[in-house]
Amino acid sequence: MPLTISGWSAHAPLQPLTLEWAAAAGVELAVLRLDLLDPLISGNKWFKLRHHLQAAAGQGAQGVISLGGAHSNHLHALAAAGKRFGFATVGLLRGHEQDTPTVRDVRKMGMTLHWLGYGGYRERHTAGFWDEWLRRYPQFYPVPEGGGGHLGMQGCAEIVAMIERQLPELGWDNYDASWLAAGTGTTAAGLLLAEQPGRTLHVALAVPAGHGVEGSLQQVCANAQTDYVLHDASRGGFAKVDHELLETMFAAEADSGVPLEPVYTGKAIMALRHAVRRGYFVAGSRVVFIHTGGLQGRAAALERFNQV
Ligand SMILES: Cc1ncc(COP(=O)(O)O)c(C=O)c1O
Repeated sequence: MPLTISGWSAHAPLQPLTLEWAAAAGVELAVLRLDLLDPLISGNKWFKLRHHLQAAAGQGAQGVISLGGAHSNHLHALAAAGKRFGFATVGLLRGHEQDTPTVRDVRKMGMTLHWLGYGGYRERHTAGFWDEWLRRYPQFYPVPEGGGGHLGMQGCAEIVAMIERQLPELGWDNYDASWLAAGTGTTAAGLLLAEQPGRTLHVALAVPAGHGVEGSLQQVCANAQTDYVLHDASRGGFAKVDHELLETMFAAEADSGVPLEPVYTGKAIMALRHAVRRGYFVAGSRVVFIHTGGLQGRAAALERFNQV
């Protein structure tokens, strides 16, 4: 049966974000709770996937095939979308077979998995990579790694309207800046396309500089009406976790009541705290923190750290 994705309208609340260090600096924070968008298709993932899934439906695809690691939030959301809307999903995984909570979940949600090894996974950028997989899964639609590309950015541009619609409920007429974690920069690039003049987009790099975020933003900045600023939030490497990060994250969770995870949102909140404490934002500034989700990976990330 061809794939369809109709009948679901996504909504994530915009809420005040109470953090003692922001209050001390007179900075007003709100958080867009993309983690609450859906119990399974959570965070920025729905926005990154939506147009890809619509394109798949438009082509009459029978299912969707994509790539990721053994803790991939992207494959998790894709498997959940397949289960929700009743289409087949195939995941091509980096490395050798592993048993992680993410892998168990995606299997339970019906995703068929193939482990490519590390060398095989590196081949993903070579011409002809998809030909073999599409011969094996004819009429499947290939979604780029992480739901990236232009369609992913286009979906993420819709996040701005979701914030704007809810400003009156918060008693805000506008905001000065938004702040979010970046891995590939697709989500940030989408926001940059839609942000209004007078606001600044702050991009907290969960990966070390030079890993692609800059390129994603440069692709769209000629069409942007606002500026963006990159902040190093990676703390020495992607998914690297340390005690100070966890202390900051746990304290922010306790203070605000908002759950975070250490790979993306915890690092973004830590970089925001650093900026606020050093007076980066003038008192009275209104900043929207975009919670990009990823909570499905929280327990496993903490466990990996405890085992080091
Ligand atoms: C929870 C979470 N936050 C942020 C990001 C970064 O998004 P992007 O790769 O679009 O920069 C990801 C990765 O997709 C993620 O899983």
